[in-house]
Amino acid sequence: MQSLLSFIEANQDRYLTELKELLAIPSVSTDPAHDGDIRACADWLAEHMRNIGLQNIQMFPTPRHPIVYADWLNAPGKPTVLLYGHYDVQPVEPLELWTSPPFDATVRDGRLYARGASDDKGQVFIHLKGLEAYLRNGGDLPVNVKLLIEGEEEVGSEHLDQFVLEHKDFLKADLVLISDSSMFAKGVPSICYGLRGLAYMEIDLVGPNKDLHSGSFGGTVHNPIQALAEIIAQLHDKNGRVTIPGFYKDVLPLSAKERAAYKKLPWNDKKYAKELGVAELYGEKGFTTLERVWARPTVECNGIIGGFTGDGAKTVLPSKASAKISMRLVPNQKSGVMARLFQKHIKKIAPKTVKVTVRDLHGGEPAITPIESPGVQTAVSALEKGFGKKPLYQREGGSIPIVVQFKQILGIDSVLLGFGLPDENAHAPDEFLDLENFFGGIRTSVHFFNELPHFMAAARKTK
Ligand code: BES
Ligand code: MN
Ligand code: MN
Repeated sequence: MQSLLSFIEANQDRYLTELKELLAIPSVSTDPAHDGDIRACADWLAEHMRNIGLQNIQMFPTPRHPIVYADWLNAPGKPTVLLYGHYDVQPVEPLELWTSPPFDATVRDGRLYARGASDDKGQVFIHLKGLEAYLRNGGDLPVNVKLLIEGEEEVGSEHLDQFVLEHKDFLKADLVLISDSSMFAKGVPSICYGLRGLAYMEIDLVGPNKDLHSGSFGGTVHNPIQALAEIIAQLHDKNGRVTIPGFYKDVLPLSAKERAAYKKLPWNDKKYAKELGVAELYGEKGFTTLERVWARPTVECNGIIGGFTGDGAKTVLPSKASAKISMRLVPNQKSGVMARLFQKHIKKIAPKTVKVTVRDLHGGEPAITPIESPGVQTAVSALEKGFGKKPLYQREGGSIPIVVQFKQILGIDSVLLGFGLPDENAHAPDEFLDLENFFGGIRTSVHFFNELPHFMAAARKTK
């Protein structure tokens, strides 16, 4: 172990140089103009996996973006880890808000700034370096590993379910390891045991059959932007609760134990509000901020489209208006059920003055993972060694829909071992990865693989 840790220490500069190369590839999955870059990124990863000594490198095409696979299965009798991550990234616009170019990774104040630095190329790279440390120093891993790195996570992992279904035996493993989330705070490592799900909807309104002069026609027909605003405004009551009938019906209540544990976490609403630049927080009454973001469902308007938005003034009564609305879901809500509830409710409250269509764009299921599993207990021990501090348990508000599919299709639980930070600007300008977390993450990765066989064996004995 000591020689592996010295190796990591001695190779820090090289790690950064390599990661910068990976981050230079603009693998934006939602934009077809970047399809070539996605391909180049998958190729880069495959090549890198081969170079560090992984085996059986394969590129699985999908109708959209390829899945990169590699394994190392030369530890008979030892546990097998399925390492999941994604190499695709979110768009970078608005470009002018980046301090340095998003695809030219730059170190400032101990942080590496680039799109994908934290979500998720940097975190995938952490484990590649953890594995490399073993493969370059004696050549053997203490466990078997299968790596599954996809290119469609940021667009809803559309083709991954099918792939997992069709490769059940091929992907057989004892647990999934995912580093695609955050620690509780800088210097406060954590294990994530819950993720929210998602149902992403679009509402399209059509009023008059063409744009109208707002003077000649204003006052005679319902402006679709106004009608849309009225619909959106009705979705929450004065207590911040969602008004859709049945919305909270399947919500698994927070246990008294969880509520007590969350109250003990180092948290300050005032500081949080200040950091976000808001005078006051907003949300469902009766729950704390952490409870609301980790364990309560929400309805959010992501975007609203309609009418004249150019410079200056144009007097127009528009024909159309649309909104992108997502629901974050918690156990035991189901995205399909929630999408139908939403559709039904919007249809019911829509005024007769406009035509309304509601579309279900995509969804993903919420997840809770067991914290007493040997995988999680290994992660606790590895984090303690990698960061010198015992981790705490938390949930997250974001979504990784494949977690539930891994459980349902492969029958295995995921260990959510995040090395990001809550304020790392994921999906926004100036995304960064904290370099202490980067190197701490690589140490943690090495400890995780080393200790997993012991925790698995101990768990088997007590069964
Ligand atoms: N890495 C995030 C998920 C995440 C965010 C986990 C914050 C924990 C904390 C992932 O890349 C992501 O952005 N997921 C999408 C899912 C969607 C596209 C189906 C999300 O949460 O919006
Ligand atoms: Mn991610
Ligand atoms: Mn993301």
